[in-house]
Amino acid sequence: MKKIIQAVTFACAMLGAAGIAHADAAHPKIGFSIDDLRLERWARDRDYFNAAAEKLGAKVFVQSADASEQRQIAQIENLISRGVDVLVIVPYNATVLNNAVREAKKAKIKVVSYDRLMLNADIDAYISFDNRAVGELQAQSLVALKPKGNYYLLGGAPTDNNAKILREGQLKVLQPLVDKGDIKIVGKQWVKDWSASEAMSIVENALTANGNKIDAVVASNDGTAGGAIQALAAQKLAGKTVVSGQDADLAAVRRVVAGTQAMTVYKPLREIATNAANLAVQLVRGQKPAFNAQMNNGFKNVDTLLLKPVMLNKQNVDMLVKDGFYTQAQLAGK
Ligand code: GAL
Repeated sequence: MKKIIQAVTFACAMLGAAGIAHADAAHPKIGFSIDDLRLERWARDRDYFNAAAEKLGAKVFVQSADASEQRQIAQIENLISRGVDVLVIVPYNATVLNNAVREAKKAKIKVVSYDRLMLNADIDAYISFDNRAVGELQAQSLVALKPKGNYYLLGGAPTDNNAKILREGQLKVLQPLVDKGDIKIVGKQWVKDWSASEAMSIVENALTANGNKIDAVVASNDGTAGGAIQALAAQKLAGKTVVSGQDADLAAVRRVVAGTQAMTVYKPLREIATNAANLAVQLVRGQKPAFNAQMNNGFKNVDTLLLKPVMLNKQNVDMLVKDGFYTQAQLAGK
């Protein structure tokens, strides 16, 4: 008996050393590594994801890196050592996770990039909204209001691959008008960590540098739009200079209703989170998820599921109530 126990112990140690995860397909263990739960939308992604994953019999371990590259790497390595069957990652920095992903693959752990694409890494799938379309919606909305004038491009975090795709979509709309001379891009900057306070000081400086002559701020999400609008308000330009956004954050939707923010982009978070949970569990169970695109991440063409974003302005804001994203009372600020 003693010899059998020794043999079994030895075998398990070997399996562990070989890094073979014990995929429990009936009850997959999912590691959900999120860049920064302090930004409003991600807490909702997390809640929708947990609800969907639990319905599928999965157990979710959530970690927030609070916008720290090192912390996110350490948290992912910890999830690997805890033997999760699949990692779902919202990367803080798109370019630094290739080693962690390599470790996961050695341990037979599937890896899904959630909303933001990890670059130069051997990931199994990517799920997001069509971020190029988001950028186009942002620019189209502002151009409809201000077909001519001085535009400031307030980008997302330079560490976030989405920020670059959003900019591509924005310029696809703006460049022809710049070439015609209707629009002048008086400045552009990325905003570290999508920080609202960083966005505010960037726009304060831009207003000073341009004698307050800025007709539109192409803000890439609602957090940075809020910072920009604070800077505009100080110059009595809130509601005059048009500002875009993304995420349908509650404060931003209230600004859209009040007229200080021209629009936001609604991305049904229940849809991306539920699809991501399904995708993660299917990968563990060896089933083939339904992809609708491929995105090259510098390492490979990644199987991708892109979802449709929705432009939201004063005219259609009640869609959020119909969709159960907010209550009427929340929109009214009660
Ligand atoms: C992006 C995401 C946006 C935006 C930003 C801040 O990657 O696609 O929804 O809000 O992060 O978290």
